[in-house]
Amino acid sequence: MNSLTPSHPVHENLAHETENLFARARNQFWLAPMAGITDVCFRKLMDEMNAGVLISELVSAKGLFYNSEKTKNMMRVHEGCKSISGIQLFGESAEDIVRASEIVESTGADFIDINLGCPVKKVVKKGCGAALLRDPAYLEKFLSTIKKGIRLPLTVKMRTGWNEEELTIHECVKAAYNSGCEWVAIHGRTRAQGYDGKANWDLMAEVKEQAKLPIIGNGDIRSADQAKKRLQESNVDAVMIGRGALRNPGIFNECIGMNNDNSCLNIIRCYRESLDEYYDTRFSLILLRKFSAWLAFGNSGAAKFRKSMFECGSTAEVMERVEEFFQNEQPLRFDDNEAFMMGGHG
Ligand SMILES: Cc1cc2nc3c(=O)[nH]c(=O)nc-3n(C[C@H](O)[C@H](O)[C@H](O)COP(=O)(O)O)c2cc1C
Repeated sequence: MNSLTPSHPVHENLAHETENLFARARNQFWLAPMAGITDVCFRKLMDEMNAGVLISELVSAKGLFYNSEKTKNMMRVHEGCKSISGIQLFGESAEDIVRASEIVESTGADFIDINLGCPVKKVVKKGCGAALLRDPAYLEKFLSTIKKGIRLPLTVKMRTGWNEEELTIHECVKAAYNSGCEWVAIHGRTRAQGYDGKANWDLMAEVKEQAKLPIIGNGDIRSADQAKKRLQESNVDAVMIGRGALRNPGIFNECIGMNNDNSCLNIIRCYRESLDEYYDTRFSLILLRKFSAWLAFGNSGAAKFRKSMFECGSTAEVMERVEEFFQNEQPLRFDDNEAFMMGGHG
């Protein structure tokens, strides 16, 4: 452990609001942002499951000025949130992000995270997402302008570089430090890799060794044991878990040794409650079907169950089938070589 790593037990948040943002994290196991997934209901569920930090899906800073309702909905933060909670923005203009920060503030979020990892063509073509990793000197100016213009703390999430020839991660981490960011989360793949191959944890460990701000490691963590092992071996300050939390939403409880009810049934019931609170019946139905199908992945009869989800016309009907299918099931583990959601915005 070094001076950046909290020395308190991982499950306790002993920090006060006046301390730096990293010290306010509830523990060292954080939820990764995922477009179309980490909406207010999923974040609320993960808060209940003890994720250390929550981050929204990426939100277009420009979109906030044009498509207000839909985009603002993506940024909702649930009441009584126990973990610190961030809104992730992307955009090619630092000024747009500064302007958008006022809307972010009104959500009650604790910080603004900038997406520097999105590999999607539509995004990088405009010079946003992972494209910003190609010019660390420009990145520093970009982030400094944002930092000077906003009141909330600033964090970033990046990849290791554009491709193997342009592994700019060390320079980009320096740029983030020089511009006053609170931490850097790293998905240990290049933009060119997409979701292929494995996340480069050796490189993340090397970055951590040289960095002057907290480094959050991310990529391919699929179980609580792996999460703890990565944390220890790479010495990063915290780890972020994305797809692993989708397949096993109880993963954060497991990471911190909380013996809560992590059964599929309990998780789906909790999720349904927050859907009812935040969305209309039509949208709740769509999300509940999708979520239940994810949890069924890998179980015998999962294909038939998934198909049956799309025949359900109400959340009550989904719940009937869920109660029958899962009974006492715990989420299944998925092994390292199984492909699952090999695409995303970071
Ligand atoms: C469906 C999906 C959507 C994603 N959306 C985002 C996003 O909006 N912002 C972001 O920074 N990363 C996004 N990511 C990347 C994840 O945050 C994470 O870096 C990546 O999935 C690797 O971590 P994992 O192996 O734990 O899933 C997304 C990933 C997936 C699978």
